[in-house]
Amino acid sequence: MGSTLAMVGATGAVGRELIAVLEEREFPVDELRLLASPRSAGTEIPFRGEALRVEVLSEERLAGCDTVFFSAGGDTSLEWAPRAVAAGAVVIDNSSAFRYEDYVPLVVPEVNPEAALKHQGIIANPNCTTILLVVALGPLHAIAGLVQVTVATYQAASGAGAQAMEELRSQAAAILAGEEPQVSCFPQPIGFNLFPHIDRFLPEEDFATKEEMKVVWESRKIFGLPNLQAISTCVRVPTFRAHSEAVFCSFERELSVADARAALKAAPGVRVVDDPLAGRYPTPREAEGIDDVLVGRIRPDPTRDRGLSLFLSGDQLRKGAALNAVQIAELLQ
Ligand code: A2P
Repeated sequence: MGSTLAMVGATGAVGRELIAVLEEREFPVDELRLLASPRSAGTEIPFRGEALRVEVLSEERLAGCDTVFFSAGGDTSLEWAPRAVAAGAVVIDNSSAFRYEDYVPLVVPEVNPEAALKHQGIIANPNCTTILLVVALGPLHAIAGLVQVTVATYQAASGAGAQAMEELRSQAAAILAGEEPQVSCFPQPIGFNLFPHIDRFLPEEDFATKEEMKVVWESRKIFGLPNLQAISTCVRVPTFRAHSEAVFCSFERELSVADARAALKAAPGVRVVDDPLAGRYPTPREAEGIDDVLVGRIRPDPTRDRGLSLFLSGDQLRKGAALNAVQIAELLQ
């Protein structure tokens, strides 16, 4: 059975990846409507051998859709997602606009697929860093019960959109040419630099950033653990499209490294890359363009009770965004 799909934000970094993932996974589509702002109307994007023309987002183009993917930022989702639902569509929203609403499921199919079926029109796709984290922690939580997690992240430019990826490229070129880097998308130069500042600082959360709190709030919601102890420091680094995370966690029950490794090896969406003596561990370069989250450096964490530490890398645009959104749509088929 085919369906009518719309993609709001089709010209963006996530939108373009969504189109590629739909094609690769042979998602049943009768009609795909590519929607964006008037800036990019008329742009042609290939899909299944055809050049599809980008159109301006409008009520008319949302009418008659079965599923609408939103990846055009929170303001666009807030304004247009309820209209798409009123017109009869199920919305899969990549922004943070609805993630913390009780009536909106927040879904990572490997971890809480059952939540998707309880939707009332909108399903939220979690933050990219959170998705990668819960894919790795889900199998460990299932056998040992997660109690606490501390995360330091190394996040790629793609999380800030297509223009930000271009800014990394142009700044690196400028610096290598001995010129001053021009900053526009990021709060600091990203070429040959890094900074602990993603999204805005929240005075009411002791000046954690919103990105850091997303990891905390969303992990609690996805695992159904409202009391999960969690903290993260989120750092932007000069990689293009794969995030990495250093993770330190503790569990209710004893969890040996061997049992953790076995659970991760058996888990969908995870690839264990953990042979330090052979120089094998996750890197963002190896994670780019693939579906699995790479997990390695698995070792005990003696600083906490029943503690474990690991390192992961995952493609921010694929599992961190587009692939997860398409997997949610597949759950609804
Ligand atoms: P456009 O190309 O017309 O600006 P990214 O996250 O990579 O920056 O991409 C953002 C996406 O959201 C782009 O496809 C962009 O389209 C789209 N977008 C931004 N603002 C709007 C808007 N007000 N209405 C529709 N699409 C929008």
